[in-house]
Amino acid sequence: MSSVPPSKLALPELAAMKRRGDKIVMVTAYDAPGARFAEDAGVDAILVGDTAAMVVLGYEGTTVPVTMDEMLFLTRTVARSARRPLVIGDMPFGSYQVSDEEAVRNAIRFFKEARADAVKLEGAGPSLSRARAIAGAGIPVMGHVGLTPQSATMLGGFKTQGKTAEQARRLVDEALALEDAGCFAVVLEAVPAPVAGEITRRLEVPTIGIGAGRECDGQVLVYHDLLGLTEGHLPRFVKRYANLSREIRDALEAYAHEVREGVFPEDEHTYEMPPGELELFAGRQERPERQHQTH
Ligand code: KIV
Repeated sequence: MSSVPPSKLALPELAAMKRRGDKIVMVTAYDAPGARFAEDAGVDAILVGDTAAMVVLGYEGTTVPVTMDEMLFLTRTVARSARRPLVIGDMPFGSYQVSDEEAVRNAIRFFKEARADAVKLEGAGPSLSRARAIAGAGIPVMGHVGLTPQSATMLGGFKTQGKTAEQARRLVDEALALEDAGCFAVVLEAVPAPVAGEITRRLEVPTIGIGAGRECDGQVLVYHDLLGLTEGHLPRFVKRYANLSREIRDALEAYAHEVREGVFPEDEHTYEMPPGELELFAGRQERPERQHQTH
């Protein structure tokens, strides 16, 4: 009996989860195995984040260089493999800053070519009108305020945002404005927990926190961070649930050692020939039909 594939989580279910007090689970993913693992773990949404620049493409300390084509490629890969979780394509720097029209055009590419269920963009200010235009074109859009890595230089680095009362009030206003612009959810990154709590209570749409405390309606972490694939410094808000980089290094070192020592491959990894064929191959016996052919 073939199993029925799980159907896609309906977008309004996220708001319903907020109303019920059920936490929303989001994780980033950038490839097919990651998407399948996330789906099997029962996550609600997968963000194909522009963190791909750092965790997949090898850029150090910046998400800015990743291109539309790279993000479309990664998003398409994830969307192909994730059936139930909502797949959100992260609009890279440069894909929505210039104009509403260009933002809509690029959001359509995520929706249509990469088969994303929604897109995400960073910031408020000009991003409000971009979000409104994208939602107006019928494409679900997620907002993102607080630490917005695409503007880390302007923010003075990867720093907690909203630590003063004035900054905190501005963050509340920005989140409310994104909701008003039509965002179906808002990511709050590196924001003091009381500020995120206040935003969460004021918004009807869900908040998804990363370094924003437990009062948010949901949480997101970067796949490579939570699995221990990222090496070096990690932000305080990351919890490692595994140490896969250690396991991968150990496995690769063991493989290299066994190849060099002639230990791998062993008999169980090796194909045999039927004995008669092996003798023929070794030239100890001639095939009768081959004799015909050659004379
Ligand atoms: O790009 C990303 O992975 C993100 C998350 C950190 C929210 O924007």
